[in-house]
Amino acid sequence: MYILGIESSCDETSAAVLFAEGDFKGKINREVKSNIVASQIETHRLYGGVVPEIASRAHIEAITRVTERALSEAGVTIDEIGAIAVTAFPGLIGALLVGVNFAKSLAFSRGIPLVAVNHIKAHVAAAYIEHPELCGDFPALVVSGGHTSIYSVKDYTNFSVLGETRDDAAGEAFDKVGRVIGLPYPGGAAMDKLAYEGNGDAISLPSPALPGDTLDFSFSGLKTASLNYINSASQKGEEINRADVAASFTKAVVGAIVGKAKKALELTGSNKLILAGGVAANSHIRRALSEMCEMRGAKLYMPSISLCGDNAAMVAMAGYFEFLKGNFADTYLNASANDEI
Ligand code: KG4
Ligand code: ZN
Repeated sequence: MYILGIESSCDETSAAVLFAEGDFKGKINREVKSNIVASQIETHRLYGGVVPEIASRAHIEAITRVTERALSEAGVTIDEIGAIAVTAFPGLIGALLVGVNFAKSLAFSRGIPLVAVNHIKAHVAAAYIEHPELCGDFPALVVSGGHTSIYSVKDYTNFSVLGETRDDAAGEAFDKVGRVIGLPYPGGAAMDKLAYEGNGDAISLPSPALPGDTLDFSFSGLKTASLNYINSASQKGEEINRADVAASFTKAVVGAIVGKAKKALELTGSNKLILAGGVAANSHIRRALSEMCEMRGAKLYMPSISLCGDNAAMVAMAGYFEFLKGNFADTYLNASANDEI
C-alpha cells in the first residue's frame, strides 16, 4: 500500500509517499517513492532561529503544493493512498496544527485511514527505511534541534526513555554557539565543517554528560561555558579562533554522546545501536560512534544524511508500523507540543 506522510513540526514542510507491504510476522518491504522537503531555513535565518508564528504561516502556504508534488513525483493519485500518517507531537504547536488539520481534512474528506505519528519515533523509523533487517530491541539515540534522548526501543512502536537532556538539546547548543561565532542559522552543519580546521584541545569546556550511571545529559553548561569564553575574549579585545571553538565544542559533545551510548549498550546488553535526528548528520559523531561500536562488536545503524533531518518519509515509515498495530486516529486528533512517548 501507499502511505502519505505529512511533517510540519518545526521549520520543514514535508510530504512523502512510501510504498510498504508485509506485516510483523514476515518481511516488510518498503520503498520511498517521493520525499519533498520545503525548508524555511532562509526565512528564519534573518532572525537567527525559528520564529514559531512565521513557521506556522509558512507551513500553511507550502503544505498543499508540497503534498501535490509528493503525489505527482511518486506517480500516484490521492485515491491510491491507503493511509495518511501525520506528525502530531512533539514540536511547535502552531506548526504541528497545520499538518494535523491538513491531514485530518484530507483523510476524512477522502475516507482514508489516519495515523498520528510521534516525531521522535519517526526519526528512529528513518533508520528502518534503509535497513529492512532491523527490528527492536536496541537503544536508540535521538539527537536533534529539540531533543537529545536515549530510548530503549522494544519494537517498532514501543519505546521507553533511558536518558535525556535535562535542559537544552544538542542541536540547540550547536546552533547557539554557531550563531555567536558568526555562522548562519542553523549552525550545526557549519560547525561540523569548521571543527576540522580547529584544535579540539584548545579550549577546556565542561562535558554535557552528567556524571555517574545516569544516561542523562545537560547541554546548558557547555553552551554557557562556550559563550562565556567568546564574550570574555571579546571584552578583552582578543581575537578568538572560531575553528578552535567549533572543534573544542564538538569534542565535548562527541565525548558525551559516545560515553552515554556505550553505557546504554552495556545497560541493555544489546549489540545494536541506532543514531537518529538532525544532529545524527554530524560527521564527527558518526565517526566516533562507528569506532566505538566497531570496538565493541556492535552494529551501528544510522539513516543516510538526507533522512536525518526532518522529512515526511520517516513519518510515513513510522505511520506504517502504527497502521499495522491498528493505531488509528479520528477527527478528534489534536496536536501536542509535548513528548508523549
Ligand atoms: O531533527 P531536526 O531536523 O529538527 C528537530 O527535530 O529538531 O534537527 C535540526 C538540528 C539543528 O539544530 C541543526 O543545526 C542540526 O540538527 N544539525 C547538525 C548537523 N546537521 C544538522 N548538527 C551538527 N552537525 C551537523 N552536521
Ligand atoms: Zn526532528
